[in-house]
Amino acid sequence: MKKVIIFCISQFFFFSLFSQSKISIIPQPVEVKITPGSFLLNSATAFHAEKGLTNIINIFNDHIGKSTGFKLKTVPNSGKNTISLEILSSPEIQLGTEGYRLQVTNESIRISANSPAGIFYGMQTLVQLLPSEIESKSQVKGTKWSIPAAQIMDKPRFAWRGLMFDVSRHFFTKEEVKAFIDNMARYKYNIMHFHLTDDQGWRIEIKSLPKLTEVGAWNVKKTGRFNYFSAPADDEPRDYGGFYTQEDMKEIIKYAQDRFVNIMPEVDVPGHSLAAIASYPDLSCTPGTYKVNSGEQFMNWYDGGFSAMIDNTLCPANEKVYTFLDKVFTEIAALFPFEYIHMGGDECAKNFWEQNAQIKELMKNQNLKDMHEVQAYFVGRVNNIISSKGKKMMGWDEILEGGLVKGASVMSWRGMKGGIEAAKKGHEVVMTPTTHVYLDYMQGDGAIEPPVYASLRLKKSYELDPVPTGVDPKLIKGTQGNIWTEQMFNNRHLEYMVWPRAFAVAEVAWSSKNSKNWEGFVGRVEDHFKRFNNADIKYAPSIYDPGINVKKDAKGKLLVDVETEINGLTIYYSFDNSFPDNYYPAYDGKSIEVPVDAAPMKLISYRNGKPIGRMMTISIEELKKRAK
Ligand code: ACM
Repeated sequence: MKKVIIFCISQFFFFSLFSQSKISIIPQPVEVKITPGSFLLNSATAFHAEKGLTNIINIFNDHIGKSTGFKLKTVPNSGKNTISLEILSSPEIQLGTEGYRLQVTNESIRISANSPAGIFYGMQTLVQLLPSEIESKSQVKGTKWSIPAAQIMDKPRFAWRGLMFDVSRHFFTKEEVKAFIDNMARYKYNIMHFHLTDDQGWRIEIKSLPKLTEVGAWNVKKTGRFNYFSAPADDEPRDYGGFYTQEDMKEIIKYAQDRFVNIMPEVDVPGHSLAAIASYPDLSCTPGTYKVNSGEQFMNWYDGGFSAMIDNTLCPANEKVYTFLDKVFTEIAALFPFEYIHMGGDECAKNFWEQNAQIKELMKNQNLKDMHEVQAYFVGRVNNIISSKGKKMMGWDEILEGGLVKGASVMSWRGMKGGIEAAKKGHEVVMTPTTHVYLDYMQGDGAIEPPVYASLRLKKSYELDPVPTGVDPKLIKGTQGNIWTEQMFNNRHLEYMVWPRAFAVAEVAWSSKNSKNWEGFVGRVEDHFKRFNNADIKYAPSIYDPGINVKKDAKGKLLVDVETEINGLTIYYSFDNSFPDNYYPAYDGKSIEVPVDAAPMKLISYRNGKPIGRMMTISIEELKKRAK
């Protein structure tokens, strides 16, 4: 009998432990205690909450209503089968303004926080405790909407948890932007940095400058690989693109605010300004006829520098430019409630300025010794304009060059160096280094991914610590993933590029540093893949595909090694043009010798005897190139 009781107790613990594996929250909360039992959500479950939280309840109901087929009512009293949402009357200091407690028992659920934001984040966690079918866009029959009993305490590491969305290189509709915000909110992001202007399109209506959207929002539709397109003919229709009216933008801002996402607008100047110059050519130092770029090459990039083949810069020596910017920032500041406006400042080619008499005159008058100081003069003028509208200015780390203007905040993208320098000077910093958070880079090996000039795997994104040693951590506001959309022609490919790396960035931004655990994270990522499958959101399966490294031995023979980001994969390969499967040779940790007359190498990964990666093909020429 004793043995039977011990067996039953051990089974009970086994099953409660087993239920632990069902909890898979991204970003990882500060504290999770699993307790025995579960709460069953059904159509009789009701909310108990104060009026100010109705919006949050509506968003939850819209989310779960599609898959469950029911929406939860609100009742005056808490009790059995209720979800109570409680703003704490005496604040719990350790939760801060965005933290929450979530308690799930067999009978009821309680979320408490110091603010509605905390309640909202508790609700996002609650959704992630439901089975993955909750994400389905149509009603799911036969699933029990069971929530494991648990006690969770949670709060973010950083106040700035952002994604930058470039809608200039390719335009995304208002509905696509809202869907993007929905996904941000689910992973507790709170800032969408909206890159609204660039060489390929001006996307926000400025009522006092109508040509910006009549001319600047439109280019020629091209299909293929951006930056390699032929130049459009003069008579090709310029009908590709679009813009948000100020009414559209108000709707987007409200939608984001309801989900506790602030929107930081970026107007990228003085470089990246071809769309503005095509609209108002006398803003350039070299007035002429300009066209919005359609993805044909117009910049030269070389080791250690770049130059523009077409002048895409605003002219710092032209007073009309500052009148123009005053108009733009007056309307932008009135539209966007967020305290920061981003003025870009990155990658400004100086080759046209160097030749320009007006610039030479400006340098003499203002005692500017080089082009960096010319740009710093411009940034200073922009800072005055933005400050005069009651906003704080942020810029890419190039605004350090020539002297950083007082009060400016820096977004460090060329590594963390600029951020460190700015923080040491007492400026606020957001860390967005290319090395870890550039979500436009390929997520896997170039042999399988749509081509981009650089690669950034999930593991590397997960490894970021935004706070470098030797700086005041209070000045590091947080981090964000940057999504440049040159090669993202549609919403499905945007999703593919963003996920799963935006899981990693969310976790870097929210979760405590000491909770980091790559193996645990990847397990949760795979659980969230199931959620995305149900939600019909695309993501890159690149964690299942190997990276291919090549070297030459002393005799010049090509040797291939493969590496995987996750454990438990076996890589099979061929050199005879046939598709490898699990009957083929497998990589066993020793370099693979490439046969003399080999056909292109093909590879595929398997897990537990089943194919899980994609069939990859790499030419012998490419292997030779990599060996160099
Ligand atoms: C940037 O990536 N040019 C900020």
